[in-house]
Amino acid sequence: MQADPQTHEEMILAFLADGGEEFTSGEALSDKLGLSRTAVWKHVESLRGKGYRIEAIPARGYRLVEVPDHLTGLELSPLLGTRDIGRTLHALEEVESTNALAFKLANEGAVHGEVVVAETQTQGRGRRGRNWESPPGLNLYCSIVLRPELPPQRAPELTLVAAVALAETIREAGVVATIKWPNDVYAEGKKVAGILTELSAEPDAIRFAILGLGVNLNARAEDFPPEVAKVATSLYEVRGQRVPRALFAAALWSRLEVWLDRHAEEGFAPVRQAWRELCGMLGAEVLVKTERREVRGVAEDIDETGALLVRTAQGVERVVAGDVEQLRAKKSAR
Ligand code: BTN
Repeated sequence: MQADPQTHEEMILAFLADGGEEFTSGEALSDKLGLSRTAVWKHVESLRGKGYRIEAIPARGYRLVEVPDHLTGLELSPLLGTRDIGRTLHALEEVESTNALAFKLANEGAVHGEVVVAETQTQGRGRRGRNWESPPGLNLYCSIVLRPELPPQRAPELTLVAAVALAETIREAGVVATIKWPNDVYAEGKKVAGILTELSAEPDAIRFAILGLGVNLNARAEDFPPEVAKVATSLYEVRGQRVPRALFAAALWSRLEVWLDRHAEEGFAPVRQAWRELCGMLGAEVLVKTERREVRGVAEDIDETGALLVRTAQGVERVVAGDVEQLRAKKSAR
């Protein structure tokens, strides 16, 4: 579906969402929509009937406080402030994996920014062949089709762009998130979000990349199997308050688009700088397990390609893929 606002209700929601915490006056809404103040009021009442919580204060106007907790075009499209991301949206109740479906759609010609989002996944994929727990109606599972003008060897940069956008959006929602190399997002020592990037490429160009984002928003520990609950958390668990999922998704996609544009225009340097500032493990002692070896040392930095630089007893080792375990906190002198 196309996400451009069409009905008056969608337009009112779009203006209110744009206003954020600020009130939008009834007069401004009626001018923008070419409707009477009474007609605006009637639309607001109708939206309230559909589960939108809209505060109204005489002489100040209206403010969007809460949107219904569904992830369909109806909730998402009026909230979108993006140029491309989510403008074509495939919103499903259930899917095997949003990444698998997005990959298929991209092979069939899906455009840059097309999004697949689902309430649950029956075979959600994690990195390194793992499973991604996807309890229904609680979290965000989405995959975005990207068609960047990049050589395939620069594809890992896209994952770091997404990690920065994710960590910033989670921080904006009031949870102190940090990035664990290469692209896990942590809060209070447990994983809160993950990224799975899958690629279709020619030797010298990316045909498309699928950016799969899983964010634990409203799940509680008991919504996960016990072994997952030991290592995973959610925004709800940390801040003790439910997250309006559609607002979060719209904020994430906006931020992602801003960072993708910046990456396209300025290259990897600003992304690397933001990533460093959000990374929770630079300066700490780590153990990195790759397919073939283990590297133990101090995580010093990421290089200009996104690889992790680990200072070991033998010198600095460059790691391009693997799982990192933090052994000891960073030294305060860093
Ligand atoms: C990780 O292992 O950290 C990556 C997890 C990525 C999960 C997301 S959920 C939406 C998208 N669809 C999938 O099947 N996986 C990604």
